[in-house]
Amino acid sequence: MKILLATHNKHKIAELLKILPQTNNKGEEIIYLSFADFPLLPEPEEAGSTLKENAALKAAYGLRKTGIISLADDTGLTVDALNGAPGVHSARYAYPDRADYPANNEKLLKELSPFKKEQRSASFTTSAALALPGGEIIFKEGKVKGFITQEYKGENGFGYDPLFFVTEAGKTMAEMTAEEKNKISHRFRAFKQMAEIIKTL
Ligand code: IMP
Repeated sequence: MKILLATHNKHKIAELLKILPQTNNKGEEIIYLSFADFPLLPEPEEAGSTLKENAALKAAYGLRKTGIISLADDTGLTVDALNGAPGVHSARYAYPDRADYPANNEKLLKELSPFKKEQRSASFTTSAALALPGGEIIFKEGKVKGFITQEYKGENGFGYDPLFFVTEAGKTMAEMTAEEKNKISHRFRAFKQMAEIIKTL
């Protein structure tokens, strides 16, 4: 059985391959492809207004273009003091036309500068969508809670990791090794549930 990971992001592909099963419950091998195997395919549009809609758009696009069962996700950072921003716009928070991690982090620090530590609560949410040939889309969600620090801490990871303090771990995501982060992350929590669904296919 083949499953398409509907993304070009190598970092994400590597992370997902560690979580998803190699075989289904019947013992059949699962072969994972990604958009890297379809270099002529344009990027799918992320025109939805929620993480769930964007995950569904990407998974449905993958299935429509390749005919292969497709798995996609969309992640957002929700900051309570900013009424949920950057949310579905997390990738392009600083500039609407490009994803710039350092600029996004600087903007986040600036917007939150009036707020004290106890007012900086936030969460990461991943919505994962699996598009099946009959048209059904299965959704799973993963979440991790924390707060936004007042300065950068840690060198690992990507995106908002140096500013996201994970309450249950007692450190920022950028202070965790890849293994530590992958045990508690929003993406891991969404895809661990999806792995159980994939085994039943
Ligand atoms: P995507 O939907 O997975 O591409 O995530 C959207 C944006 O959220 C990314 O461009 C990053 O800015 C941010 N993001 C997603 N996952 C993480 C993470 O694990 N750590 C830090 N930032 C993340």
